[in-house]
Amino acid sequence: MKNNRPIGVFDSGVGGLSVLKELKRLLPNENFIFLADQLYVPYGEKTAKELVKLTSKITDYFIKHHGIKAMVVACNTATCSAIGELRKKYSLPIVGTVPAIKVAAEKTISKTVAVISTPSTSKSAVLKKLIKNYCGGFKIFNIGCKNLEDVVEHGELNSNEVNKLLLKYLQKVKNSKADCLVLGCTHYPFLKFAIKKIIKKPIKLIDGGRAIARQTGSLLANHFLENNEKKAGETLYFTTGNPVKFSKVASKLLRKNIQAKKAVI
Ligand code: DGL
Repeated sequence: MKNNRPIGVFDSGVGGLSVLKELKRLLPNENFIFLADQLYVPYGEKTAKELVKLTSKITDYFIKHHGIKAMVVACNTATCSAIGELRKKYSLPIVGTVPAIKVAAEKTISKTVAVISTPSTSKSAVLKKLIKNYCGGFKIFNIGCKNLEDVVEHGELNSNEVNKLLLKYLQKVKNSKADCLVLGCTHYPFLKFAIKKIIKKPIKLIDGGRAIARQTGSLLANHFLENNEKKAGETLYFTTGNPVKFSKVASKLLRKNIQAKKAVI
């Protein structure tokens, strides 16, 4: 088995690109296959059972069609609900994405932390456990945000609709002592500018992108799976939805020309 096999990275949609960006930056000679499961976006309103089914299909697709050597679940929602099952079913190394509560706990001075995520992540036992383990005794705002991923799916990063939603979800945070806001959905780092504008006070926006890339690097090294080829790696983009629409939005978010293909899984 060769080490130049790609790493599979997926999300329900374009959000996972915020993680892919960090992976490519830290691991420039790795090859990546990015898949957006846009036929089923949003994941944030699905049950754990549905998410295990969808993510198993994606893993099968990555193994069968792309011979991946490792996988990154670039989605908090899928990680919180399905990664345990995926790790039981598949033997390949799998990296997950969970809200960066631990980092916020280390950085907060006011001992007040806010976390925004999808409705499913916000209710999940995984997030509740992270909060209990790292932020016990702190004031916490755990806010589930319906439809916030949708504006990013449409490439809207600073529209009236974005501002309206952010104002609704962040009103309490705005009027609190919170000095750290965890972005617990991989779509949200693309809204950093709009979030700062709404909150209007110094607040640290924390997402897990870089940490996930570092963790992927260590996992590859531990499994002797690093690609030692000297040339720059390649990334192929796929969506289960509309490739023209995906390519347009992804090109805007990554500020370069992306051409995606349709994946039938
Ligand atoms: N980007 C995803 C996450 O990190 C999910 C968005 C959605 O499909 O609801 O949770």
